[in-house]
Amino acid sequence: MSEKHDPIITLRISRAVQENPSVKTIYFDYPLKAKPGQFVMLWVPGIGEKPMSISFCDGKSFGVSVSAVGEFSKAAIKLKAGDLAGFRGPFGTHFTLGKEKTLLLVSGGCGCAPLAFLADEALKRGKKVFYMQGAKTRDLLFFTERMKKAGAEVAVSTDDGSAGSRGFATDLLKSALQKNKSGKICTCGPEIMMKKVVEISDGSKIPCELSLERYMKCGIGVCGQCSVDPLGIRMCTEGPVIKKELVKKISEFGKYRRDASGRRVPI
Ligand SMILES: Cc1cc2nc3c(=O)[nH]c(=O)nc-3n(C[C@H](O)[C@H](O)[C@H](O)COP(=O)(O)OP(=O)(O)OC[C@H]3O[C@@H](n4cnc5c(N)ncnc54)[C@H](O)[C@@H]3O)c2cc1C
Ligand code: FES
Repeated sequence: MSEKHDPIITLRISRAVQENPSVKTIYFDYPLKAKPGQFVMLWVPGIGEKPMSISFCDGKSFGVSVSAVGEFSKAAIKLKAGDLAGFRGPFGTHFTLGKEKTLLLVSGGCGCAPLAFLADEALKRGKKVFYMQGAKTRDLLFFTERMKKAGAEVAVSTDDGSAGSRGFATDLLKSALQKNKSGKICTCGPEIMMKKVVEISDGSKIPCELSLERYMKCGIGVCGQCSVDPLGIRMCTEGPVIKKELVKKISEFGKYRRDASGRRVPI
């Protein structure tokens, strides 16, 4: 993890790629030393800063993939090459690459951002990567071509059947486990999906790591905004990536999260 109280590093954006109608990847030419699953606090001048998973990092440049949701993200996706923006980080825990020969990566929505970076790193180390991505419709998928080119075995599902198989990413995981019953599962996406992934991993006795997003303000363990019940651990420092054994002790997992004012919001 980087030192606490890192200053914001302000840079010109080197490249901005529209991935689909609502997601843009913003690249900075900066030698960030990050591991898959870690995040930066992205700063948009005049708007503020928010946590963003690192979706690409090769030691020379890095990228974050922003999905337009509210005020911050809608401003961020208007940024283009040459515009000024900033970041602090990298922060948080990361997915671990151990002795397992195979990784089963399960993503939903923007959850493919950290998993694409993880797939790149795993493939570099000679691991077999099953990359499974679920989306509501075909036009919301992204990074699938990048993952195919990188050498992953890619499977997609859409809720309406407009691409891949009709259904959910968890169905893809069940099929992949019929072909491959070893390795490790890593997942990021909607909590309902991740809860199901944890159940499937229990059933097949395969280790599982997941990225748990909570509302973050400081990103460095100071404000307590991202603490989870009942453990009180902070998802910006003790997370966002945690093992399934730990997530089972977090009673709010799959049930609620807290908003900016600390109020519970059902999931
Ligand atoms: C570790 C981590 C990694 C993330 N990675 C990505 C990513 O790769 N791509 C991406 O598009 N988004 C990512 N997010 C979510 C992102 O930080 C913002 O939540 C999102 O951009 C919406 O912010 P907004 O102001 O545009 O929308 P708002 O309308 O303010 O919020 C929309 C939703 O986002 C949640 N949210 C808002 N602000 C924050 C915050 N500061 N921290 C956490 N959740 C917040 C709200 O609870 C709400 O559910 C990540 C969040 C975390 C915690
Ligand atoms: S965001 Fe401040 S402690 Fe985690």
